[in-house]
Order: sequence, then structure tokens, then C-alpha cells
Amino acid sequence: MSLRQWQSEYCPMTEIKKVSVLGLGRMGSALAAALANEGHEVTVWNRSPKALPNTRSVATPQEAYKEADVVVTCLSTYDVQQPLLSENIKKLVNLTSGTPEQARATAKWAQDNGVEYVDGVIMAVPQQIGTKQARILFSGSQDHQVLQAFGEPVYLGEDAGLAALYDLALLGIMWATFGGYLQALALVGMARISPQQFTPLATDWLATVNTFLPEMGEETHHRDYETDVSALDINVAGLRLLAEAAKEQGLDTTVPQALHDLFQRAQERGHGAHSIASVIEVIR
Ligand SMILES: NC(=O)c1ccc[n+]([C@@H]2O[C@H](COP(=O)([O-])OP(=O)(O)OC[C@H]3O[C@@H](n4cnc5c(N)ncnc54)[C@H](OP(=O)(O)O)[C@@H]3O)[C@@H](O)[C@H]2O)c1
Repeated sequence: MSLRQWQSEYCPMTEIKKVSVLGLGRMGSALAAALANEGHEVTVWNRSPKALPNTRSVATPQEAYKEADVVVTCLSTYDVQQPLLSENIKKLVNLTSGTPEQARATAKWAQDNGVEYVDGVIMAVPQQIGTKQARILFSGSQDHQVLQAFGEPVYLGEDAGLAALYDLALLGIMWATFGGYLQALALVGMARISPQQFTPLATDWLATVNTFLPEMGEETHHRDYETDVSALDINVAGLRLLAEAAKEQGLDTTVPQALHDLFQRAQERGHGAHSIASVIEVIR
């Protein structure tokens, strides 16, 4: 007997749900498996037929909607998902990635069609689903019973677009970090320094960089960029050196050059003696 089945039998507040999952890609398969593992009755649909242990496969989305308390969607994009939606869905938990406006439009469609709507984003990889490391940010309806099977749900508010907004903002930090890390590996690699040699210093440095963020955030909030730490001028010069060093080694310069150009525009607007946080004035 699974923990979920035990809870359902002995704690009447916890129900086993009939849940249908649309999309059995890398993430959808992990979600369906986590739901089945929690004891929910899981029905699955995928474009290319796939079987998943402890779930029932159906041939069409409409069959998946029949009798389902909740429908979870995890498809590649909203363009793929949109034509599959139906007013026969009772409650939609949308875990397909999109923009805040796409989420809001789907919430409006749900409201117009009497469908309860939860918009969620998954801040984890499939291998982490069902563990505490998987943070599921959600907005719209506050009901998170199904999301609990996937990890730690964090409610952001009634605006259904908030989950997608946080998702893209957080992923943007990740992608920028990955871009910087790969640029660094390529650069030190030209001197035959291996990733294994370099990465411990990189992760230590990121821990230091982390400590700068709260103050930087405060500066952008108050639009007060006075600094006795590090002026934008010196950072523009540093980025120029990084781009030149990459060029000297015959490497691609897109990442340092893009940052250099952005920071330089803030410098040209008179922020040279200000902190790096002043770059937000150009971004805004
Ligand atoms: N993987 C991750 O680490 C991760 C993390 C967070 C969020 N997500 C989000 O989760 C969603 C799914 O990602 P994934 O990694 O599972 O992607 P994936 O492995 O590429 O799976 C994509 C899914 O979409 C389906 N699909 C694609 N085009 C379709 C079409 N025209 N009609 C019907 N179904 C179609 C695929 O069906 P077929 O099997 O038939 O191709 C498959 O079920 C994305 O929005 C992604 O951003 C993923």
C-alpha cells in the first residue's frame, strides 16, 4: 500500500484523485509516475503512443478528460497545447512553459469555459520530481493538492501569469550564468586548464557573487546607485578586457561583448561612477 493510499484510507481529508496527464515527454512521464506513486488513478495521453507503468493509456485527449478530476498538461509549448484544451476539463493544472501573457490568456479561456485553472512552473529536472528539491511555483487557483505529488508547491498569487513570470526571470539568471560559465571554460581551456581544475573556483566565486544580489536589488528598488564598492566604469573596462582576451584566443565573443555593450550604454547615460545596478536604467 502506498503512503497516499494509506492516507486516503485512514485520513479521510486526503483523497485519491482521478488525474489525467497530457504529454509524456521527459517531464510529463516523471509527473505521471509521481502521481501514480502517490496512489492517484492516472490516465495518460501522448501524441506518439507510450505506455507507463501503473497508468492507463488512452488514444485521444477527450478520453483523458472523461471522469478526470484534474487534467495536468506538460507539452512542449502552448501552441501545441491550445488546440487540445476542451470545456470538458473540470480542473486544468497547466505545467507547460509559456509567457505570462500566454498563461493569462489560458486562464481567461478557462474562466469563460467554467474550468478551474492552476498555472504552474517546474523549477527542477525530471529526475528531481517527487522530491523536496523540486520546487513547483504556481498561481491562479490556490488548490495545490496534485502539485504536492511533484515536489514543494509555492503559491505566488491570484494572477495566473505570475508563475510564468517568475519562471522566465529565474531561468534568465540560470542561462546567463551558464553562458558565463561556458565562456570561462573555453577561455581557461585555451591554457589547457580542465573543467575539473577550474570548476571548484567557479562555484566558490558564485557563492560570493550570490552575496551581492540583495544589495543590488535594494539599489534598483530605491534607484540609488551611489557606491564605494565598484563603479560601472571599471566594470566596462573589465568586460572590454574579457572580450579582447576571448578574441585573442580565437573564441566567440558574443557573451562578453553583449554585456560590455549593455553596460557601456549605462556609462554613456552618465552612470560611470555609479554601481553596476544602474544598468537596470537602460534595461527598463
Ligand atoms: N525537461 C525539463 O527539465 C523541464 C523542466 C521544467 C519545465 N519543463 C517544461 O515541461 C514541458 C515539457 O518538457 P519536456 O522536457 O517533457 O519536453 P519533451 O521531452 O520534448 O516532450 C515534449 C512533449 O510534447 C509533446 N508534443 C510536442 N509536439 C506536439 C504536437 N505537435 N502535438 C502533440 N504533442 C506534442 C511530445 O509528444 P511526443 O512524445 O509525441 O513527441 C511530448 O509529450 C516544456 O514546456 C518544458 O519547458 C521541462
